[in-house]
Amino acid sequence: MRKKIVAGNWKMNKLQNEAKTLVNQVVDLLQNSNLSDDKRVIFSPPSLYLESVSLITNKEAFISSCSQNIYFENSGAYTGELSAAMVKSVGCEYTLVGHSERRALFHETDIILAKKVSCAIVQGVAPIYCCGELLAERKSKKHYDIIQAQIEGGLFHLSEDEFSNIIIAYEPVWAIGTGETASSDQAQEMHAFIRGLVAAKYGNTASDNLTILYGGSCKPANAAELFACPDVDGGLIGGASLVAEDFVKIIDAL
Ligand code: PGA
Repeated sequence: MRKKIVAGNWKMNKLQNEAKTLVNQVVDLLQNSNLSDDKRVIFSPPSLYLESVSLITNKEAFISSCSQNIYFENSGAYTGELSAAMVKSVGCEYTLVGHSERRALFHETDIILAKKVSCAIVQGVAPIYCCGELLAERKSKKHYDIIQAQIEGGLFHLSEDEFSNIIIAYEPVWAIGTGETASSDQAQEMHAFIRGLVAAKYGNTASDNLTILYGGSCKPANAAELFACPDVDGGLIGGASLVAEDFVKIIDAL
């Protein structure tokens, strides 16, 4: 079953008390919302707060926590890193993989991301695999090729069974944190393209069941229009997930 999801990526924001306050505010505001098994809310706080956030979200039926990153080994001499097994052990069910900031600032390649995806799946942590093109790539009409290469490079080593754990987030880099959003037509076109790639590789059932999120300056004012697109199954929200009321308005647009 294809799930509709709104996930909040807090990036490197909020101190410990602020983090708890924000999750509690959102959970309170959601008490009368129409969440159900096919609609899910996900918080992706800094790793330091994953355990305390998970303690709150795991009491809620349709709310989960998500790591912003994992390493591709389970344990060992990797100073500063966290494994999928570790985040799982504190109650976390999802992890972002390949956010554009990880790709750009931390030089994560599709080869590295493919290993992270596999590691997460083995440990029972569902990857939210991020892809997106730069503005120059879109202007030179290479955006479809870029997305295809990112999807194939990071995901297409998986078996059909493994792939059923995947969520994809399409986040055009030029729209992240810029206030500039992809139009609903641009989002729909790319999401349909991604679903087509998945159908060709894994078949129609896998592509029908795949949740594809849009990310990049998604906010209360534009969420409903984006989420109304047939292939947009929700959003990965940065800035607007840091304010409880805004995040809940976006969730209500699902
Ligand atoms: P934004 O970030 O909503 O602030 O543009 C989205 C993201 O980076 O996931």
